[in-house]
Amino acid sequence: MCGIIGYVGKKNSVPYIIDGLKKLEYRGYDSAGISILQDGHLITVRAVGKVAELEKATLLANPQGQSGIGHTRWATHGKPCEENSHPHRDCSGDLVVVHNGIIENFLTLREKLSALGHKFKSETDTEVIAHLIEENLKTAPGQTNQERLFNAVRKTNGEISGAYAYGVLWAQTPDFLIGVKNQSPMVVGLGKNENFLASDVPAFLKHTNKVLFLEDGEMVTLTSKGVTLFGKDGQEKPFKPTKITWDQKTAEKGGYEHFMLKEIYDQPQAIEDTLRTAQTDFGKLVGLKMGDLRALQNVHIVACGTAYHAGLVAKYYIENFAGIPVTVDLASEYKYRTVPRTPHTLAVAVSQSGETADTIGAVRKAQELGFKTLAICNVLGSTITRVCDGTFYTHCGPEISVASTKAFTSQLTSLYVLALFLGKANGNISATVFNKLYKELLTLSKYMAETVKIEYDVRHITKKVYKAPHFLFLGRNVNFPIALEGALKLKEVSYRSAEGFAAGEIKHGPISIIEKGTPTIVLMPPDELFEKMLSACQECRARGAFVIAVTTQEGAQKAKDCIDKAIVVPYAGEFLQPILNVVALQFFAYWTAKRLGCDIDQPRNLAKSVTVE
Ligand code: M6R
Repeated sequence: MCGIIGYVGKKNSVPYIIDGLKKLEYRGYDSAGISILQDGHLITVRAVGKVAELEKATLLANPQGQSGIGHTRWATHGKPCEENSHPHRDCSGDLVVVHNGIIENFLTLREKLSALGHKFKSETDTEVIAHLIEENLKTAPGQTNQERLFNAVRKTNGEISGAYAYGVLWAQTPDFLIGVKNQSPMVVGLGKNENFLASDVPAFLKHTNKVLFLEDGEMVTLTSKGVTLFGKDGQEKPFKPTKITWDQKTAEKGGYEHFMLKEIYDQPQAIEDTLRTAQTDFGKLVGLKMGDLRALQNVHIVACGTAYHAGLVAKYYIENFAGIPVTVDLASEYKYRTVPRTPHTLAVAVSQSGETADTIGAVRKAQELGFKTLAICNVLGSTITRVCDGTFYTHCGPEISVASTKAFTSQLTSLYVLALFLGKANGNISATVFNKLYKELLTLSKYMAETVKIEYDVRHITKKVYKAPHFLFLGRNVNFPIALEGALKLKEVSYRSAEGFAAGEIKHGPISIIEKGTPTIVLMPPDELFEKMLSACQECRARGAFVIAVTTQEGAQKAKDCIDKAIVVPYAGEFLQPILNVVALQFFAYWTAKRLGCDIDQPRNLAKSVTVE
């Protein structure tokens, strides 16, 4: 849950590293650090807080050097403070390590190394890596320092356990970096006379779009002249870089004040790009056999947070279009509950990042049970895509804001496609119905482009309610998970208390929390449940709620005597409507947070990818 960047090249590495760290702040931002190799010595600067603090400290220290590494941290072992920030040093101070993940056996190793005389300066698990490499260097074979370091790192990998990716820089090996990957992300950017090591592509995308995605157990060495990949067996391995088509501009804010706002506006394009890749040969596209898809009797969806809410909506899609029973589990729960070993079962893992530890764990469990696994994922080459049997990529581009928006609507779009293909494969829907529904789906990005125009109205409405201490979100049927998502989004970015409920449930308890002025956002598309939603509005309003309906023009007209305000969205049909309705709630969360002066893109206590359990 941290960001790593390393640079070797012909230029001063400092600006590359600071800039790369800024691009990686979404991975953690409680402290940051940098180590630069200058005239044979390592200069390390570290600071608590965001990368901007490190930048100030680095300007003062003014290190200069052509090789360096940096790190932005989200604490797992040891509180956020300067001593616990990376890079971590060995006893000599000549060798530094930046690390993402957890070293599970660090206490045992720390004791062992302390007994050998190593002095620890932090509470972190990471520091043991630096000392262990230092220890292993004493006996490491090799003709050159580069070979000795390589062998010492390899030996270290055999001694540590857990999920980790780390980078090493040693003063004795100028123009030389080592990267290691095991169950945490690590990528290499291949430039001209310069190469990069990072946790994610945006860290160096400004400089190169040629990327090598490391696999678990692999190691890589970088010099300014080239990159060498080593397999699990320590032998050199040929590789073909992937060309990333996202440009740097796409990965940046594009003129919006916050990534979250930009990403809400990205949604029409994201849906279009996601649909562009879905072909008629769906099985081939996702890498699963058509026969397996046709025979499915059960679908298990596993995910966390917003992706879990996408899974909840998908249950309605798959059961409706394919007639296959679906269970939806929080990945962290699936891992630890008894899951019956049912036949012909597909586990679908939904994850924007593809690095969420709980979701990866749930996938592994599904595989142990003999289920086929399919990832719905946004990040090319991420862990989940490599672990699953097949992947259906959402193509929404990098999502930088911690609060997920465009990834959610792209996930819903992909899950809708999945449901249609499963229904066609098993004959639950005819080819004619499939074609009709698919044609409707292709109009979704047009509806989305209309929907994002509601920002001004939502912004205006939040002015009335943003100071409220507590918010309610109500939906029914396929819009119930959207109510949950609206509440999560608001909590996440505005730190307000918010809850989502199935509208039919409020009279069974939740209505008691309503008091004068409680903002109650009600999702009420003009479908067969409209009248029931109208009753829910009346019940809440009678108890003092300030009712805001998310509905169509016609719905707003019909509901006018039972609501206080309406957010009017276009209507795309019963099952596509949740994908439009959620946009109202995304803007609602954004503008409430903005009025409250919150740190919208990096809310307190959160990180973009939760790569630890
Ligand atoms: O990368 P993933 O989709 O696996 O992440 C899952 C959740 O951590 C994520 O959706 C989280 O809930 C978001 N910050 C919500 O906006």
